[in-house]
Amino acid sequence: MNSLPLPHNRIEVLLRPGALREGLIRDVASGFGASPKRLPPKYFYDDRGSGLFEDVTRLPEYYLTRAERALLEAHASEIAQAADARVLLELGSGSSAKTRLLLDAMAVDGLAAYVPVDVSEGALQGALADLAADYPALPTHGVVADFEDRLVDLPSPGRRLFAFLGSTIGNFAPPERADFLDRLADAMAPGETLLLGTDLVKDPARLVRAYDDAAGVTAEFNLNVIHVLNRELDGDLDPGDFRHRAVWDADREWMEMSLRALRPVSARLQAIGLDVEFAEGEEVRTEISAKFRKDRVTTELKEAGLELEAWWTDGDFALSLARRV
Ligand code: SAH
Ligand code: AVI
Repeated sequence: MNSLPLPHNRIEVLLRPGALREGLIRDVASGFGASPKRLPPKYFYDDRGSGLFEDVTRLPEYYLTRAERALLEAHASEIAQAADARVLLELGSGSSAKTRLLLDAMAVDGLAAYVPVDVSEGALQGALADLAADYPALPTHGVVADFEDRLVDLPSPGRRLFAFLGSTIGNFAPPERADFLDRLADAMAPGETLLLGTDLVKDPARLVRAYDDAAGVTAEFNLNVIHVLNRELDGDLDPGDFRHRAVWDADREWMEMSLRALRPVSARLQAIGLDVEFAEGEEVRTEISAKFRKDRVTTELKEAGLELEAWWTDGDFALSLARRV
């Protein structure tokens, strides 16, 4: 975290100062005014939230990260060969931990740069400092950006393999997911590839355990958004007034996380002059995490102009490689 970046390593901030907070204000105004209340998941990831997510990835119940890592261990060379790219550009890169498997495989044919993109500047700095220690010769170009709006501005210092891992794509609602894939495909040059990680539909009991772990780490991650609201908007919400909930929606095939008010709540977000009221039992939806099937992934990629070339799975999680046509 504290090591100085090497000259060929830099971080570019594509977020206008205050843009994230302005987005939060808009999303709180519309999301708390909606029924049921909702908030987008990107506000989980301040430094504390990014750390809590890393803790989640190590939980026995949260199989996703281990499954994706095992797929990368088994198939990184095939992926690197098929992508035939000089640049690895990763969206929502977080700690970049699993990415090392791709970097190792791509380095064999000469990797020009790693471009991690994340809204969390702290996570990006930490990831790049760790990488600089272990890959001193690797040029990196970190980008602090919201991948919901700056895809076309991302650097293109050579033919790119885009990576969007961890099933983060499942955190979009279906219309936003389609829109995101359209914009991503528009930002890709013909022949460039996308490596997409998707968690698969499975036994709901396992899914619920993965999102409601025995140690309560996911609960803490979910409740972190209350701390973010209080800090950013001078709020007086009490995290103790809310309980973490994680439920499987069988019709929509997604996990849904919410915070349920344990008692009537009256709070104020002073910075925006907003009074927030919850009836006892009322919930605010904080995240959906869609679970996929191969036909849905294939179709959605195709609709965006991305042709599926390979699909690797252990039955729980899948990696897809798709090419921009
Ligand atoms: N790819 C990693 C991290 C997944 S956690 C893994 O597979 O383990 C999701 C990551 O996406 C976080 O680092 C978070 O900060 C980032 N993120 C969430 N919403 C984002 C957005 N709108 N724009 C850019 N990054 C975002
Ligand atoms: C980042 N994202 C894909 C995670 C998920 O599984 O939806 C975030 C998370 N939410 C609860 N646990 C982990």
